[in-house]
Amino acid sequence: MSDLAVAPAAAALRGRLTVPGDKSIAHRALLFAALANGTTHIAGLPNGHDVRSTRCCLEALGIAIGDSGGHVVVEGRGGAFTQPSAPLDCGNSGTTMRLLSGILSATDLDVTLDGDTSLRTRPMRRIATPLTEMGAAVDLTEGLHAPIRVRGTSRLKGFDYELTVNSAQVKGALIFAALGANGRTTLRGALRSRDHSERMLPAFGGTIAARDGTLQLEGRQHLRAMRETLTIPGDLSSAAYWIAAATIVPHSRIEITGVGLNPTRLGFIDVLRRMGASITLVHHGTGAEPAGTIVAEYAPLRATVVEGAEVPDLVDELPLLAIVASFAEGTTHVRGAEELRYKESDRIDAIVRGGRAIGMQIEPYADGFSVSGPASLHGGALDAMRDHRIAMAFAIAGLGTPGPIAISGADSVAISYPEFFTTLDSLRG
Ligand code: S3P
Repeated sequence: MSDLAVAPAAAALRGRLTVPGDKSIAHRALLFAALANGTTHIAGLPNGHDVRSTRCCLEALGIAIGDSGGHVVVEGRGGAFTQPSAPLDCGNSGTTMRLLSGILSATDLDVTLDGDTSLRTRPMRRIATPLTEMGAAVDLTEGLHAPIRVRGTSRLKGFDYELTVNSAQVKGALIFAALGANGRTTLRGALRSRDHSERMLPAFGGTIAARDGTLQLEGRQHLRAMRETLTIPGDLSSAAYWIAAATIVPHSRIEITGVGLNPTRLGFIDVLRRMGASITLVHHGTGAEPAGTIVAEYAPLRATVVEGAEVPDLVDELPLLAIVASFAEGTTHVRGAEELRYKESDRIDAIVRGGRAIGMQIEPYADGFSVSGPASLHGGALDAMRDHRIAMAFAIAGLGTPGPIAISGADSVAISYPEFFTTLDSLRG
């Protein structure tokens, strides 16, 4: 585990940059392309470790994936996977594990999915329960978590299911399972989460209907490769760090081009604007996934309140919001975010511990935190808990503190954003 010290920004941050392709869209692009019949070309696939985990798992399932002219080329086999000879390694990636479990449930394979120490602690009953109800045999370790053994069946049954947690990984797993099941699946309940699976499915010839607050899919859908190249826009969750940096460092202006602007991902921008931030969005194009340019400039901030309904729209940005809130006037409250406790680390705990080490005035709630500002932050040393989003959030804090912040486990940024520190250096001019 490496330590890295982030020095304060000596001057305004100015620049124009791009960010890696969207991680959530990338997982789904690989998975849909593998399920489809024929060859799909993908442009802009990010090379973070999480997406690599999905790629390697698919290769272990007999899918040929190559690189050609800057594109990733997936030879889809219409759902025909081969029995892997060893457990699939999902690394740190909950999305890989959950979405693949959905796909495998509709096959006649017997596959074990495993991951690193963080992934082995994350809750998996949320997918095991519904997939079992559809007819797959899903065994969890200690009834809770990975390693997971999925014994799928081509006789998987469509069903009517009420989701109880707003999770795109659960929703996505069930969408993938439903596509290979027999009969109709209706999903209802907690469906407010990123909608990349729903948007991408039609591009592969599939159908999904949103009706009266439900999602409905017919089973046994035959997907076909995309004729045109599937282009992945930049990741809003990566762009968020530069939006925050520009907002807190005086006189800064950062422009980020080619970023995905899917409305289910814009919560961080909405909340920051409410706090007084100066953020301009220019939408380009009208594809299934909207994209465009973001311009963020320094602005004085005031505190805000984020409650449950808004949480799914910025769930990955909440640790970063805690940092930004330290620069705002007043006390910011985040509630209804207990899901943060089940991410790559317990992010409430990680942000409170790390935050206190650098002088943040932060208090935990069972389901969130409060942060008072403006705080007299100082340099210090903290542990990112091997969590990429914690490491990047504190790196941004380091720009606005008078002394350097030493981050233990900073190399975890490679999970989603291997180029993060290079871009940070380039912004310092
Ligand atoms: C993701 C969904 C989110 C998010 C994660 C990626 C996805 O989790 O936190 O980083 O790609 O589906 P939820 O399952 O809580 O929505």
